[in-house]
Amino acid sequence: MIDPFGRRVTYLRVSVTDRCDLRCVYCMSEDMTFLPKADLLSLEELAQVCSGFIGLGIEKIRITGGEPLVRKNVMHLMERLGSLLVPAGHSGPGLRELTLTTNATQLDRHASALRACGVRRINVSLDSLNPDRFRTISRWGDLDKVLKGLKAARQAGLQVKINMVALRGVNDDELLPMVAWCGAEGFDLTLIETMPMGEIDIHRADQYLSLAEVRQRIEQRYTLTDIPDLNTGGPARYVRCHETGGRIGFITPMSHNFCESCNRIRLTCTGQLYMCLGQDDHLDLREVVRQNPDAPHAVQDAILGAIARKPKGHDFVIDRSVSAPAVVRHMSVTGG
Ligand code: GTP
Ligand code: 5AD
Ligand code: SF4
Repeated sequence: MIDPFGRRVTYLRVSVTDRCDLRCVYCMSEDMTFLPKADLLSLEELAQVCSGFIGLGIEKIRITGGEPLVRKNVMHLMERLGSLLVPAGHSGPGLRELTLTTNATQLDRHASALRACGVRRINVSLDSLNPDRFRTISRWGDLDKVLKGLKAARQAGLQVKINMVALRGVNDDELLPMVAWCGAEGFDLTLIETMPMGEIDIHRADQYLSLAEVRQRIEQRYTLTDIPDLNTGGPARYVRCHETGGRIGFITPMSHNFCESCNRIRLTCTGQLYMCLGQDDHLDLREVVRQNPDAPHAVQDAILGAIARKPKGHDFVIDRSVSAPAVVRHMSVTGG
């Protein structure tokens, strides 16, 4: 699948639920209203749609949420998708990576089963290593549970990358400790700029921190060198931290747009296909799937039609003079 700007689309992010057991302050308001469960694609429909996407050239699927592990029986979907993975060492087309992004509160129960499904690495959202602060950011999260989940992931042989949204005045004093801790634990770390998606209880400009500034702050203590060849297929650009030996990724949608190399599309839990995280245009794939139960080609044709209108990029702005978010829907609906 090639879009009008010559970008090859190989990475599908699938949100299996908009629900989450936490309410991170930059992600949701405290009284967030979730979608009715009746609107969700069934696990069977999700598996069918994913296999249609793989037939069209998707090589990497990331399961997201909300929190994907709160979706009932999500492991059945993981097993189905895992069975579609191309065996290691085989060449040719097909699904090469199945992975997920999780807050890890329930990871201790699922880590070994994930590995058995063919998952090799996972991304874990963790914005603070201080239990009280973690609770404040996530509104009621228990850091201990996350640490248990991470331990289980390591024991299961899953490679872990920690996602930390860098927030001024909230967790920016933990940047250096997080680099040190991830290095010591053998986890990669990705730092992320907050994006203006969905109404939250504060103005994003109050918390926005440019990763250009973050990198400078880290470089006052650590030596970083670019790893230009490392590409996980996602938007991060990576550096090596010499003192810890670990890798640090920077995701900079605000300060340094990376849309020209975008290879991604995302499917929401209600079957809406978004061609860009930062735009509203989408295709109602659930309608197409339900209207054409025995015609997978009709679904694939609709997908190709949507790829032909993939936008050039997002129009995110974080500015104190702009009060409404650039995109009204929350990140948890689209799965990031
Ligand atoms: P890797 O496979 O490890 O590269 O992961 P990833 O960075 O693709 O996935 P993850 O779910 O960990 O996402 C990290 C952050 O990147 C989240 O905040 C996502 O919202 C953000 N992100 C992912 N894709 C895009 C994109 O196309 N545009 C923007 N603006 N942000 C994105
Ligand atoms: N801006 C940037 N990152 C966000 N995430 C959730 N909401 C936002 C936002 N508004 C991050 C989470 C998770 C990843 C999927 O997206 O921390 O790690
Ligand atoms: Fe939940 Fe992730 Fe949003 Fe936090 S960032 S509230 S863990 S969906």
